Amino acid sequence: MSLLTVQSITKHFGDFTAVDGLSLTLPAGRLTAVIGPNGAGKTTLINLVTGAVAPDSGAVYLKGEAITRLAVHHRIRKGLSRSFQIMNIFARLTVLQNILLPVLARRGRTAQAFHRWGRETEAIAESRAILREIGLVEVENTPAGVLSHGDQRLLELGIAIAPGPELCFLDEPSSGLTSVERSTVLALVRKISVERRTTFVIVEHDMDAVFALADWIVVLDRGRLLAEGPPAQIRENRAVREVYLGEETA
Ligand SMILES: Nc1ncnc2c1ncn2[C@@H]1O[C@H](COP(=O)(O)OP(=O)(O)OP(=O)(O)O)[C@@H](O)[C@H]1O
Ligand SMILES: [Mg+2]
Repeated sequence: MSLLTVQSITKHFGDFTAVDGLSLTLPAGRLTAVIGPNGAGKTTLINLVTGAVAPDSGAVYLKGEAITRLAVHHRIRKGLSRSFQIMNIFARLTVLQNILLPVLARRGRTAQAFHRWGRETEAIAESRAILREIGLVEVENTPAGVLSHGDQRLLELGIAIAPGPELCFLDEPSSGLTSVERSTVLALVRKISVERRTTFVIVEHDMDAVFALADWIVVLDRGRLLAEGPPAQIRENRAVREVYLGEETA
């Protein structure tokens, strides 16, 4: 059985069709990159799968179960999570607190007042383990807003994996980073995918990174599936070169 099945999903915004009858199947364990020009529908696809946006038609199945109409928090409980294209951390909370929030939520302890967080020893230990994975444990008491842009991106990755997802979408996790920082983040995604058995889907604009990292590439154009396949095959695909890579080199 596939981990995720998207079945002819469509989303209109007024007269504009952002996602147009798109179907996709994702097996567990395969690191997928979603690419495509600006406005191709990549973020909308993530929004549709994770529940931020409701489709006009079509269906989404997680491990065979229809989740098309489920609320976001129910999808998180079923093993879906995501990071956002625009930075989505709590700048005034510490690094540790940013991770503690989703960890407490997963443990059903969202109602805990801030001043009681210190008593949540198991959740704190779990959060520290995540910080060790992403290399931020030394700055756990630093307000997140003070971190470098690169470390903030790492923290976002930590927040995305904190609910313990089976399937995790990362929307341009390396945007705004130098190529060295980008390699760090993406290598970490690969490592975490193996260690936690989390299946990642990454939206990424850097073609070198995509071809080096992904097991499978999905190419969107104007809300439709233009092509999908292993990197070597996508690299040679004529339609992809014209629509996307051609644009990149232009
Ligand atoms: N809430 C919305 N209301 C109106 N139009 C929207 C909305 N969300 C997305 N769109 C439009 O849908 C199209 C697809 O947007 P989307 O954000 O999915 O593209 P994308 O592939 O993620 O692009 P980018 O690479 O720039 O992030 C765009 O033209 C966008 O303007
Ligand atoms: Mg986007």
